Amino acid sequence: MKFFVDTAEVDDIRELQATGLLDGVTTNPSLIAKSGRDFKQVIAEICEIVDGPVSAEVAALDVEGMIAEGEHLAKIASNVTIKIPVTPAGLKACKHFSNNGIKTNVTLCFSANQALLAAKVGATYISPFIGRLDDINLSGMDLIADIRTIYDNYAFTTEILAASIRTLNHVSDAALSGADVATIPPAIIHKMYGHPLTDKGLEGFVKDWASTGQSIL
Ligand code: G3P
Repeated sequence: MKFFVDTAEVDDIRELQATGLLDGVTTNPSLIAKSGRDFKQVIAEICEIVDGPVSAEVAALDVEGMIAEGEHLAKIASNVTIKIPVTPAGLKACKHFSNNGIKTNVTLCFSANQALLAAKVGATYISPFIGRLDDINLSGMDLIADIRTIYDNYAFTTEILAASIRTLNHVSDAALSGADVATIPPAIIHKMYGHPLTDKGLEGFVKDWASTGQSIL
């Protein structure tokens, strides 16, 4: 499963890029607003830090506006992926981008039918929002599994990008459900390393190695 980081905070992205784990970045208007920075400047900076896909979301709601904005954003860097909402206008714009070799990330997906529509217009990625479905007592993970089944049934090449990830279980469950990508908040990625038994075991190894009085070099 590919790891994208879900943030527009450049320092967090740079820190994670150094781990060698990062395959891409997703942003959205809320994350850009939270960064307090100029949208196009921060996207350009992120594209300099990571080689993988960097999702930049259009703001327009009409087809013509989405296409104009998306083509403008795509000029920032070759690894910019255009994020569009799963609306009738968004999917028409997605079809245009797909026909013109611009990678797309269809976002705000909450149903298997929406994912089916996105695949049929050639979306590069579909972003089902797990956390927001869980928030209303539905199962975000069941949606991931349903989309996986549908895409495999028809050999759709659209990649399932599990989004709105809030917990460690969301990451491992998305992998178990067959998501191609998980876009993960920085804090969750950092938590993935930890386990109390690892800490305890390492402490024991360090103590016992020290008792040998030996050194490796
Ligand atoms: O990539 C989508 C993600 O940023 C949304 O997360 O927690 O606002 O549902 P959340």
